[in-house]
Amino acid sequence: MWFNPIKVGIAVLALVSPSILAESVASYPVGWESWPVVKESQNLPADTVLPPDTSLFIQESVKAYDWINNGLGSPLTIRVNPEKLEQYKTHGPYTDGPTVVAISEVQGIIWVTEHLSGLPIYGSYNRKGEDISSMHPSLEASFCHQCHDAYKDICINGTCTEPVLGVYEKQ
Ligand code: HEC
Repeated sequence: MWFNPIKVGIAVLALVSPSILAESVASYPVGWESWPVVKESQNLPADTVLPPDTSLFIQESVKAYDWINNGLGSPLTIRVNPEKLEQYKTHGPYTDGPTVVAISEVQGIIWVTEHLSGLPIYGSYNRKGEDISSMHPSLEASFCHQCHDAYKDICINGTCTEPVLGVYEKQ
């Protein structure tokens, strides 16, 4: 035989598995376009100079997404599932299902936070509903947890209370 089926199987697995690891866990919430806007924020440009007393959380958030729009930044719109508006006001506890989306207006990236058994799960999509988590390491679901679940005093039940623009509003 000119090929070894086991070897071919391993090769296919190796090709496919990185994309499995980078898959969104939250699903694409159809109809998010009509969810109420709760916040207008920004992905800050790469050359942003943050005030020296900026929290580590904000510094990391700005750095993580400074590649958006080739480093030029983008307006960021945050929309909440209308059925969860009251839950969002208190940052949970959240019922199951899609909770909130953040949309980078320039690049059309949609960050999704969903809840399952009270716990946040994450995903990244484009406007066509295609999973784009493998487009950039900072769009992988595991990366979202590193920030949204690590800063438990700021991101309560997976939604964050400290807005990036607040750094400037305080000045
Ligand atoms: C390094 C920190 C960091 C990482 C990593 C991160 N986020 Fe966030 N996220 C933030 C901050 C900060 C905000 C609040 C932005 C604002 O209000 O200006 C936010 C806001 C959001 C919101 C709007 C609701 C809310 O919590 O305020 C969603 C949805 C969201 N993120 C999803 C994701 C997803 C999905 C990922 C992974 C692909 C991710 N985030 C990765 C820091 C992070």
